[in-house]
Amino acid sequence: MSEASRPSVLVVDDKENMLKLFSRILGEAYAVTTAGDGERALALLASREFDVVVTDIQMPGADGFAVLREVKRRAPSTEVVLVTAYASIPKAVEAMREGAYDYLSKPFDPDEVALVVARALARRRQQQETEGLKEKLAAAPDFHGLLGTSAPMRQACAMLAQGAARDFTVLLLGETGTGKELAARAVHAESPRRAGPFVAVNCGALPAELVESELFGHAKGAFTGATAARVGLFEEASGGTLFLDEVGELPLPVQVKLNRALQEKEVRRVGTTTPIKVDARVVAATHRDLQAEVAAGRFREDLYYRLNVFTVRMPPLRERREDLPLLALHFLAKAGRPLEGFTPEALRALTSAPWPGNVRQLENAVARAVAVAQGPRIQLEDLPPELGRSAGGGALPPESLAKLPYREAVDSARDAVSRDYLTALMQEFSGNVTHAADRAGMERESLHRLLKRYGVRSEDFKRSE
Ligand SMILES: Nc1ncnc2c1ncn2[C@@H]1O[C@H](COP(=O)(O)OP(=O)(O)OP(=O)(O)O)[C@@H](O)[C@H]1O
Ligand SMILES: [Mg+2]
Repeated sequence: MSEASRPSVLVVDDKENMLKLFSRILGEAYAVTTAGDGERALALLASREFDVVVTDIQMPGADGFAVLREVKRRAPSTEVVLVTAYASIPKAVEAMREGAYDYLSKPFDPDEVALVVARALARRRQQQETEGLKEKLAAAPDFHGLLGTSAPMRQACAMLAQGAARDFTVLLLGETGTGKELAARAVHAESPRRAGPFVAVNCGALPAELVESELFGHAKGAFTGATAARVGLFEEASGGTLFLDEVGELPLPVQVKLNRALQEKEVRRVGTTTPIKVDARVVAATHRDLQAEVAAGRFREDLYYRLNVFTVRMPPLRERREDLPLLALHFLAKAGRPLEGFTPEALRALTSAPWPGNVRQLENAVARAVAVAQGPRIQLEDLPPELGRSAGGGALPPESLAKLPYREAVDSARDAVSRDYLTALMQEFSGNVTHAADRAGMERESLHRLLKRYGVRSEDFKRSE
């Protein structure tokens, strides 16, 4: 491997023999730089960025804490591993609270050093991936709040823009939660009527007797309870856009009146015969199959043809899975608690779930996960169980960890993480230990020893050809 493509590690220790030891363990797989004291390390950190920093805690002058703080100030995604004498483990734990990734207590096993550094590097890579996604999010095309770079989403947005420019009726189709309301607002915002009002009405939420007066208004005394005259939503939307949500739910008699209003561009308030001119562009939406509704006699054919002039279908999430990471991160950012992102397992579960409730369901799932998440990133366990979890690794359940004394809990969590990490490595490289060792930055023999220690069998991951 060339020097440039090898991950970089800075080792800081005031004892020459320790620097030599680390160089020997890590020198094969990493580009190792050494610093004999904290001041030299600080100077190096000012001039360049490292992937991982391994530093002794106790040093004269600038100590491991000073190095840790400088790293986190300059390059937060650089991972720091502390080296400590067994007696000062509480200090190391304190350092982990300040952002160190892990610690090694002396005396340590060379395999352990290689594994901890490999895991620190894997975490940095993950973090960089999330950062990349965030940049993509910042640069993502957003059509009046509609996010998505997939082909179906780009096509839908292009259609919405086209429909917005002309003044005809737009019909939005799509399953629940696909963004029909957002699309209606986008049509308005993109249209020449954008300075006018946007009036939305959910046709399914009103009792049948009220829909008509809501839409067309009524005269004083038109019916019991009509104590004053009322302007209908059609009139209110004049000069702007009237959004008829769930138009498939309109009662048949109101459908007749809606059809006439659209045809004549005028309305009659309930209880009067005087026509009033209205100038509202109608955007209608439904999750129903209107053609089937027509066939079943629940929707008037004439109204269907009048609405079905320019139709845009909002694609369900399962047809645009590539938008999922972006949307998930968008809702994470909106959720109000600053979390770093998702673990790879959580992201995999999100992108493979069926999402019958589409974007709305995703938004709710992320909000719930943010509320329950304990760590800096959303984990598989934080997601609603109905997403269908993929098989987990060998991690101990948190209850059993809580019962162990602190040090043992840390160790056994570490073991579980190591086993997960080794399993993931074997999966990625189909049991090829040479390639896996290369990626993990350790020698083949060391990886063999670790696999044996953690009971992970490379043979189990070999693909049968
Ligand atoms: N492409 C998108 N990008 C960002 N947010 C979206 C997108 N699509 C939908 N949303 C968000 O998802 C939620 C549901 O969207 P919306 O209410 O527009 O869906 P809908 O199709 O009207 O659903 P329903 O049929 O259930 O009324 C909203 O919070 C909306 O902001
Ligand atoms: Mg809606």
